[in-house]
Amino acid sequence: MPLLATPFRALVIGSSGSIGSAFVNLLQAHPDCEHVVGIHRQSMPSIDYDDLASITDTANGLASQGPFQLIINTIGVLHSEHFSPEKRLEDLTADSLSTLFNTNTIGPALTLKHFVKLLDPQHSVMATLSAKVGSIEDNRLGGWYSYRASKAALNMIIKTAAIELARTKPNAALIALHPGTVQSRLSKPFGGEMKGRPALEAASDMLNVLLALEKSDSGSFLSYSGEKLPW
Ligand SMILES: NC(=O)c1ccc[n+]([C@@H]2O[C@H](COP(=O)([O-])OP(=O)(O)OC[C@H]3O[C@@H](n4cnc5c(N)ncnc54)[C@H](OP(=O)(O)O)[C@@H]3O)[C@@H](O)[C@H]2O)c1
Repeated sequence: MPLLATPFRALVIGSSGSIGSAFVNLLQAHPDCEHVVGIHRQSMPSIDYDDLASITDTANGLASQGPFQLIINTIGVLHSEHFSPEKRLEDLTADSLSTLFNTNTIGPALTLKHFVKLLDPQHSVMATLSAKVGSIEDNRLGGWYSYRASKAALNMIIKTAAIELARTKPNAALIALHPGTVQSRLSKPFGGEMKGRPALEAASDMLNVLLALEKSDSGSFLSYSGEKLPW
């Protein structure tokens, strides 16, 4: 039986991004979603992983609008004007490792810590966008050290938190979700426009997965198709 009851209230974190804004658009039009809140670096309240205190402040500030039955965190980074994904070990720097770990692991981990408190204890789902390239078992091509490692570490945080939550909030599921290759700012320099799908299509597939999630799916790493991915 699906965990998410209807109607539900949703919160999208990183709603300025391609996938985040697509989720907000879909949820606004969804007949079973009675309220959707989107937050990002420029929203009020805001969430900025370069200011980790904003995570606590915003979670506290949103408490009066909760509980939420669905929370989706779409924040993530792959490249910046200062660095590109590493092709070789020689390219690895402390700067790229620390920036990607801050945005892809530490920020989302603290978001889990503070935002699980906003989840409806009766029936809720919190998904954090990860990436299949964060799968250690599936790593065949190498490269992209910092991004892969930051998403692998994120996956471990989600899995560990899901085990704890099964004891404290057994009707709330936490999952890591892979969107597939999607046309976005993040994927653009790596052929995302050509290889990827429109964000709305990817978000629609992922929403179907989220709406069908069962309690036993908590602690899984799932693809947009619903397929279970290896850690
Ligand atoms: N696109 C793909 O092919 C693909 C594939 C696998 C996984 N993913 C994952 O999917 C998620 C969404 O990616 P996307 O493709 O939608 O990328 P995107 O369009 O670049 O969106 C990224 C989002 O993250 C936010 N963000 C970046 N750095 C931040 C920081 N320091 N603090 C707070 N927010 C920050 C951005 O905010 P601003 O608007 O303020 O910059 C934006 O809302 C990411 O977690 C990514 O790793 C994407």
